[in-house]
Amino acid sequence: MQENSFSICYKIYGQISELPSEQAELLGQAEAAAENAYAPYSEFQVGAALELDDGQIINANNQENIAYPSGLCAERIAMFYASAQHPGQLILRIAVNSQSAKTSMEQLLTPCGACRQVMAEYQLKQGRNIEIILAAGKGRIMVFESVEDILPFMFKADQLKKNQEL
Ligand code: THU
Repeated sequence: MQENSFSICYKIYGQISELPSEQAELLGQAEAAAENAYAPYSEFQVGAALELDDGQIINANNQENIAYPSGLCAERIAMFYASAQHPGQLILRIAVNSQSAKTSMEQLLTPCGACRQVMAEYQLKQGRNIEIILAAGKGRIMVFESVEDILPFMFKADQLKKNQEL
């Protein structure tokens, strides 16, 4: 038996004004997008803003449904839209912000597993890291350089091939 460990590196900022300008701009757009979320059931409004390598920014927010599983998270709506409308463009970064009167915004927002998996798909497809900027309300902000950092041991297509090591 061998016990292994690994660490991930990420940055924490106290407020949006401390971020580099391209990240601050994107997070500002995610905050604005959260305002327009359709989240009458959870009252947890999430906005996502995604920057493409031609400079375009795609905004999205969570969309809920009375048949709960029919709704979708902000992140996946933004990524699917980007892939549908701009298939040749690289995704440079995604910023996510949440707003809720019901929960403590001291906590950080971290994307669900399904959204991480979808981020992983596009990162692997494009062969270039997607930067991730996460914030809840006006609280502190976490910045990750790669989807790998929020989804370690991600499932990759090459695991379907023979003789692959983890
Ligand atoms: N939600 C997102 O849109 N993104 C996240 O990162 C976390 C959760 C949405 C899904 C649902 O509409 C509401 O927030 C509560 O889970």
